[in-house]
Amino acid sequence: MNEIINDNKNEILNNIKHKALDNHIPIIMDDTLEAIDKYLNDRKPEKILEIGTAVGYSAICFSKYLSETGKIDTIEREHDRVEEAKNNIKDMGLEEKINILEGDAVEILPTLNEIYDVIFIDAAKGKYPFFLKEALRMLKPNGIIFADNILYKGYVMSDYNKHKQRTAVRNLREYIKEISENPNLETQILEVGDGLAVSILKQ
Ligand SMILES: C[S@@+](CC[C@H](N)C(=O)[O-])C[C@H]1O[C@@H](n2cnc3c(N)ncnc32)[C@H](O)[C@@H]1O
Repeated sequence: MNEIINDNKNEILNNIKHKALDNHIPIIMDDTLEAIDKYLNDRKPEKILEIGTAVGYSAICFSKYLSETGKIDTIEREHDRVEEAKNNIKDMGLEEKINILEGDAVEILPTLNEIYDVIFIDAAKGKYPFFLKEALRMLKPNGIIFADNILYKGYVMSDYNKHKQRTAVRNLREYIKEISENPNLETQILEVGDGLAVSILKQ
């Protein structure tokens, strides 16, 4: 019986993933998920914060790591995506586990006063340094911050300087500098997906 339920959930998750890909909604890549799995599979986080829900795919994937009473807060500013994420989360039976905060993370983050074990940054690249500051304010000792797309198609590590992406590239470089120089963080930059920064707060 449990196997039938799991098969059904896997099929729903697969449909969510392929619908997002077909609609060009950027979702976490498979190798990035695999890399994150190595950090989370024995952690049982109590609270996860995600910045950038899109249609809920990554939040749904992360829910399997939660402790029995664990919860995910995830922030999204596009109303249509919030509605689709809510439907996807409901279809997966995860309404009690995943809480969507609708609005701009720049405005919502300063209003949060929770402590998180894991924070996943996956939204506007130009705001990564701000997201880092807020993440550090709310991260538990030994907690992890993941920042996706940190290498941004290779632009961040090259001398690429095109106008449209310039602000994003400058801010991603600043993010990398801050995590690398912060003596309280142990940081690795992984070449998976579009680049994943992993920073663990020393105890
Ligand atoms: C890369 S997608 C998130 C993908 C999702 N984490 C996944 O892997 O399934 C980034 C999302 O962040 C949202 N976003 C970008 N900047 C934001 C901000 N400042 N506040 C809230 N949401 C934001 C976008 O609307 C978009 O849906």
